[in-house]
Amino acid sequence: MRYPLISNTFFKQNREKLSGLLPKDSLAVFAAAANMPRNGDQFFPFRQQSDFFYLTGIEAEKAFLVLYPSCPEPELKEVLFIEAYNPVKATWDGHMLSQQEASNISGVQTIRKDDQFDAVLRELMHSAQAVFLNLNEYPKYHTVIADSNKLLADKIKAAYPLHDFLRAAPLLEGLRVIKSETEIKLIEQACQITGKAFERVLRFVEPGKYEFEVQAEIDHEFTIRRAQGHAYAPIIAGGINSCVLHYTDNESRLESGDLLLFDFGAEYANYASDMSRTIPVNGKFTDRQKDCYLAVLRVLKQATKLYVPGNTTDQINKTTWKMMEAEMIDLGLFTAEAVKNQHPESPLYQKYLMHGVAHHVGLDVHDPGLKYQPLKPGMVITCEPGIYIREEKIGIRLENDILVTENDPVNLMAPIPIEADEIENLMQRNY
Ligand code: GLY
Ligand code: MN
Ligand code: MN
Repeated sequence: MRYPLISNTFFKQNREKLSGLLPKDSLAVFAAAANMPRNGDQFFPFRQQSDFFYLTGIEAEKAFLVLYPSCPEPELKEVLFIEAYNPVKATWDGHMLSQQEASNISGVQTIRKDDQFDAVLRELMHSAQAVFLNLNEYPKYHTVIADSNKLLADKIKAAYPLHDFLRAAPLLEGLRVIKSETEIKLIEQACQITGKAFERVLRFVEPGKYEFEVQAEIDHEFTIRRAQGHAYAPIIAGGINSCVLHYTDNESRLESGDLLLFDFGAEYANYASDMSRTIPVNGKFTDRQKDCYLAVLRVLKQATKLYVPGNTTDQINKTTWKMMEAEMIDLGLFTAEAVKNQHPESPLYQKYLMHGVAHHVGLDVHDPGLKYQPLKPGMVITCEPGIYIREEKIGIRLENDILVTENDPVNLMAPIPIEADEIENLMQRNY
């Protein structure tokens, strides 16, 4: 493992919390992620399914977890199934988890081999009435590929059509949305690595470099600092590319006088960070770029104050959009009069800011969380206002990850440079 082992108390507590939510005579079943084929005999790098990691800490495919807190057989209240040892696989792919290791990592006492799953489940289903199945219910999730939890759900529903089936996703979402101390430390570590990569590129960027060269600097810093990689496809967007919200080609030459927008975040121990910064390619903002930059920065600072218990991300979005609207008027993009006469369904600011400014971050960069749910201490949510003025080749986004507490919001990216003068000073070259 690249990161120090996380105490299994964390995974045990997560299972206890979930077990406490399961009604009597019900069990919950979770599948590990499958290895995703890339082509022929190649696979994408393995990434554990987030809920499975949250409940077990196990980073392997072909594993299952069954939680059955009211099981009459105490030994079977928690069962973790792992792939049976396969000497050929071990020869080609390396170390396979032993049962003892799986127990040490997860804290689960009863470990069985995956080929016993069907038989054990059959025994448990005999006394259980209801089964919680875990589908990916993220609103924007859409895929033609059935993941391992979907396959498992289909299989169990077909085999036991007379049991009751319930959704595990809302339970997991309710737990994961509040981060424990352990999780906050891991997210902080991810943020810290992201910050180090940003400092590195501030020393590297200059006209004539290519976006992919900048990405290579980030990749290098992530790797030597033990990140697993990027928490999402990094955006390294110079000039007009800064106005493409999800630009990930990262292939263009950086030109003097242009801005360079970054949106990247390290993933550490499966926990994400999500940062945006915008810098001048030649180390000095033009007057107009600086005016726009300072407008976004002011809004970032004001909006961060909204990250307190009771507010919702929906309210934060709406309030922040209004703040950006006022800045856009000052920047001369439209008039206050025009705003008064705008159609409420298509406000003028949407031409220059088309995205939300707040989402949860955790095991997933877009972690589950309902937008009408009042914020609570322990939530980690991005604050990411931006402005995209295509006709001026100006795209600016500034994004921090904010921890909600009982008191003031805590910016987990506070040490990462963001003031315009600070950025310019750090980019100074002594040729
Ligand atoms: N990096 C994706 C986002 O900012 O939401
Ligand atoms: Mn981002
Ligand atoms: Mn974000």
